[in-house]
This record gives sequence, C-alpha cells and structure tokens, in this order.
Amino acid sequence: MAAARDIGTNDADDFAVDAVELATRHLVQPWPYAGSVGAEARTLIGEGDGIYITDANGKRLIDGPAGMWCTNVGHRREELARAMYDQTMRLSYNTPWYTMSAPSAELARRIADHAPGGLSHVFFTTGGSTAVETALRFMQFFNNVKGRPEKKLILSRGGAYHGSTYLSASLNGRARDRDWMDGIDGLVVKLTSPDPFRRPNGTSVEAFGDFLVDEFRDTVGRLGAEKIGAFVGEPVQASGGVIVPPKNYLKRIREICRANDILYVSDEVVTAFGRLGSVFASGDCFGIDPDMITFAKGVTSGYFPLGGVVISDRLLEELRRSNHPDALFGHGLTYTSHPVGCAVALKNLDLLEDGVLAHTREIAPYFQAQLKTLEELPLVGEVRGMGLMACVECVADRDSKNPLELDKNVGARIDAHCQELGLLVRPLINMCVMSPPLVITRSQIDDMVGILREGISRTMDDLRKEGVWQG
Ligand SMILES: Cc1ncc(COP(=O)(O)O)c(C=O)c1O
Repeated sequence: MAAARDIGTNDADDFAVDAVELATRHLVQPWPYAGSVGAEARTLIGEGDGIYITDANGKRLIDGPAGMWCTNVGHRREELARAMYDQTMRLSYNTPWYTMSAPSAELARRIADHAPGGLSHVFFTTGGSTAVETALRFMQFFNNVKGRPEKKLILSRGGAYHGSTYLSASLNGRARDRDWMDGIDGLVVKLTSPDPFRRPNGTSVEAFGDFLVDEFRDTVGRLGAEKIGAFVGEPVQASGGVIVPPKNYLKRIREICRANDILYVSDEVVTAFGRLGSVFASGDCFGIDPDMITFAKGVTSGYFPLGGVVISDRLLEELRRSNHPDALFGHGLTYTSHPVGCAVALKNLDLLEDGVLAHTREIAPYFQAQLKTLEELPLVGEVRGMGLMACVECVADRDSKNPLELDKNVGARIDAHCQELGLLVRPLINMCVMSPPLVITRSQIDDMVGILREGISRTMDDLRKEGVWQG
C-alpha cells in the first residue's frame, strides 16, 4: 500500500496533479464506462462562490447545472456553513432508531407547511434514490397492511430518472441507462414519455396529451387497478431532458390514480426547493395534490446529503386504524433525520423564503427567453424549460428531429468548448441542460447564454469540418 500523503499541504498545482493521479489509480467515478472505470480523471473543481466554481487551473466557470441541480442558493453561503458548524458542536448525530432531535421535527413541520393537500408528515432519507425507495417500500407496506398484497405494480414512464438504488433504478426510462444494467422489471410498467417535442408528426400537443391520458387509463384497465400500487412521475422530467408535459396532463393522471386507488408519487427531487420558484411545484405549478412527494438536492442546496418523502395524513391514519397495529414498517437508514442535515436545511429554507424564491420567479422568464434565442442556431432543434431549468436539444435537422445519431456526443462537445469559455454545462447525449444556482442575476444569464451560443457555434464548425453535419 502507498504511504499516506498529506495532499492538503501541497500548493495548488501539486494538489491538482496529485488529485488527477490519485483519481485515475484509486477512484471509481459514478456512471463510468467499462473501458475507463477506475482509471478516469474528471474536471477537478477546487472552489465555489455564488454561481461560480473554479477549476484546477484557476479558471472560473459558471456552474451551469448548479452542481447536480442542487446548489440552489449558491456556493459558499456562510449562513449554511455556520448552521452546520453550530449543530455539529451541539449534537453531531443521534440514532433515529429510538431517539430524535429538535431540528428534524422542526424541519418536518416547515416542510409540511409548504406541501400541498393533506401532506403533513416527513420521513427523511439520505438523498433522492433513497427517498423514492422509501416511498415505494411504504406503498408495499401500506398494501400489505390493507390486506391486498397483490397491489404492487408501479407505473413509470420513458425519459424518467428516479435514482440509482435497485428499485428506484428499475423505474428509469432514459435511453441507455438500462442497456447493461439489471432491474426488477416484473414490478414496473413503462408508459410513454410526455415529451411534446417527440410527439408523432402531425399531432397537436393537445391531442398528444389526450393520447397519454388514454394510454394511462387503458393500462390501468388492462393490468387491473387491483394490481397497481403506485404511479411515480417527475412533474418536469429533469434528467430526461427537461420535459415539460402537456397542459393539464398531470391533473388528469392524478384523477385516474385517485379513482383507482393508485398512490400518486410526485418525484420532486429536482423541482422542489426553488427550481420552479416554489418549495413544491406539484401544487403551486401543476395544481395537483399527490399522496407522496419525494425531495432531496435543493433541500440543503447540496451542502449535506439529505432527502425525504412527504406523506399524506390519510395514508398514515389508515395505517393507525388498521387491524394490524403490530405490523412493522421495517425501513430506516442510519442517517434518517440527521440533525446536521436538518439544521442546514432549516437555514436553507430561511434563505429560500427570505428572497430566493421570489427572485427565481422574477428572473425565470428572462432566463427562458434568453435561452430561447439559441433556436436561431441550425443545430438547435428546441429550447424548452420552466422556472430555472432548461434544455437545449440539438438535432441534425428539424424535420426528422434526428438527434445526430446520438453517438456524436454533441452535448459533451458543446460542454468542452463552453468550459474553455467559462461555463460548465450538463451534457446529456445530444442535449445541454442548464439549471444554474437560483441566485443568478440578469447579467450573469447574459454571460451564460453568450458562452453557450459560442460553444454551440464552435461545435457546429467542428461537425462541418469532420463532414458529420452540414446544417
Ligand atoms: C427526479 C430524480 N429522482 C431521484 C434522483 C436520485 O437522487 P440521488 O442521486 O440523490 O439519489 C434524481 C437524481 O438526479 C432525480 O433527478
């Protein structure tokens, strides 16, 4: 084994060289390819401040994806650092198995205050995958206690991303995610992605919405409502390419679920805590009151790994009044209700309530309008989005909507150019997703869009030179 090295005392250059070398020898990165697994260095980030991060060469980049849709109030917020420090010095951890802390109870109340309908209780987890996992295990438990153990199928959709644990990952419907990965397929039924851009040619968005609702209703009829436990859906499919569904589609799906006693799980891991200008988007932006809402990421602005499920009192009341008071929900995580995570989430919620939500609502139309101007570029098929999340989808030509055979990795090419120019982009095959920290200003949006425009233009030049594309 190599001798221990104190890389923290090296100067910046040595630190960067060390980190790259160590990563390629010892670190397994998430979402690796077999050909480079365990031998890969990625862009090394040393510092963050506001909407900016700094790479190993000291180059300042706009944090286009806000980390991973999470650094909502921006980097280096002293209030959040203090909240973590103060809580750590008071109580760094307590077992949730048979003790509790005040910050977790207080955070549950404040989250419930923002949640729609009768969503009154919170189960805290370590992130989004464990939140989705918790919601689904709760559905299974609920139906077992209610004496209908066959009501367990889960409806999900193409384009969905719900996590990387075994059950949550089985719900994923994005291209490529599952090509080499197993899942619990017998339990999950996939429906069409509500992606208006890829609706059949000649179909209006309204008719496409009707098709989606009919497909949902027909699927329930075909499988039998008595077999379906839950529908899980993101209000806006995030990692699937910021898919904003047709108007009223979510409301209509909600009604079918209610009529058939199918639990509606709204996966707000990305959309909650400000991304769409509200703490929760389900009620405020889409007019729905789900049975459960999953959240993570923005709840702590990414400063601490925390997630959770907001659960309706109706479900809990049914359990409390069931004939099986001794039935055990055998589910909990060592870090459930972590006091430090809950303390930083409380402070983060203060910041959101004290101006960041209002700022997001005010700036979002400008953000969307400026990005929309990129549709002038012939490589861009569509720019779409909502709130402070948007996607620039590239296509070889707009009629066929050919995503450049996907394998030209256009998103990664644009990201490489943008990084040179001072912007980190989230590349997704032929798409670039933009979801900056919510504290971004108008002039910073101008900088971001200007760099993205130049990055796309340079990519178009490259593709032309390579003879891959002549648009
Ligand atoms: C909608 C949605 N659900 C769940 C997850 C999984 O969250 P985590 O990576 O925190 O486990 C993600 C992650 O991006 C997500 O976008």
